[in-house]
Amino acid sequence: MQNKQTILKSAGIIGVGKALPDKIVTNEDFVKLGLDTSDKWITERTGIKERRIAEPGMGTADLAVKAGQAALDNAGLTPQEIDLVIVATTTPDYPLFPSTACLVQDRLGIKKVGAFDVSAACTGFNYALTTAAQFIGTGFAKNILVIGADCLSKYVDWTDRSVCILFGDGAGAVVVSEVSEGYGILASDLNANGAEGDILITKGGGSKKPFSAEMLKDKSHFVFMNGKALYKVVINSIIPTIENTLKKVNLTSKDIDYMVPHQANLRIIEYARKKLGLKKDQVYINIQKYGNTSSASIPIALAEAVSLGKIKEDSLLLSVGFGGGFTWASNIIRWGGIKKG
Ligand code: UT7
Repeated sequence: MQNKQTILKSAGIIGVGKALPDKIVTNEDFVKLGLDTSDKWITERTGIKERRIAEPGMGTADLAVKAGQAALDNAGLTPQEIDLVIVATTTPDYPLFPSTACLVQDRLGIKKVGAFDVSAACTGFNYALTTAAQFIGTGFAKNILVIGADCLSKYVDWTDRSVCILFGDGAGAVVVSEVSEGYGILASDLNANGAEGDILITKGGGSKKPFSAEMLKDKSHFVFMNGKALYKVVINSIIPTIENTLKKVNLTSKDIDYMVPHQANLRIIEYARKKLGLKKDQVYINIQKYGNTSSASIPIALAEAVSLGKIKEDSLLLSVGFGGGFTWASNIIRWGGIKKG
């Protein structure tokens, strides 16, 4: 739980955008590939029907740039008006450098402003959004491009049915700027518990175990997930983070108009929805189309919910994320309040 802090300016979302690869892989496609799975199992256990997969040669930055441009267009800003770039990703184009944020800064024609990546797995967007709010709050930046982008399909073993069916690739983006008082990101809650890091881990390919021929054989460069253990940890943490965030601004779940959760498992979303007493039409769900796109899942869902008119001026929005680390976080946002001119 974070301390109360003095916010000098209110930070809110003034534009949204998304980008997805064209290639669709359905549940049936995995069966055709010879995997011992079924559309029934994947649908019942996860809610996923299909996911988008980046073709060979396409990297995270390609999607991040497209989503970023869409968010700029939606906000009615030019790249020249952005003065900070934050990209949440755990699947950068390059393992060390340059960061994906630097690639985005260059390829969108943004000025030579600060650009950095945030690594918090599927919670990355909530972490990046909270970070952006501090920079706006203190007056350090006026317009920040915040992107969640991941290509986890490149890091899964396509013969491991317990993992490969879960993930898809994509990017979502928002522009964060000063908004009228009472609007924007009203409260945030960030959490991490490294002691639970090994339930979702990629053991090979980092400084602890650099790339080697042995690593390719033992497949430790792929995502390993203890799905059952992760499910339990998520269920135990999702409601407490939401309650912490609501408490900071003296609100309760009854005040929430709309929820945009991380899309990891339909059963987890349903659990949270019921606990919070929300109706089905108060929650945005697109896991059936895209699977788990990690840090991209919330901003993609946000872009779709906004374009469908689900989130309107004055809506009280809840965003909640959870993932590797183990990390979990949430934001409460009063939508709108965009300053004209
Ligand atoms: O974004 C980061 C956060 N991620 C999450 O929050 C994910 C949390 N975990 C989950 O969503 C679920 O645990 C999974 C969807 C990953 C797995 O569902 P589950 O109900 O926990 O299944 P399980 O891992 O306990 O596996 C049940 C059975 C096993 O067989 P046995 O041991 O009961 O014979 C698995 O081998 O299902 C089997 N199985 C499959 N069967 C068909 C595992 N994957 C598959 C598959 N198709 N793709």
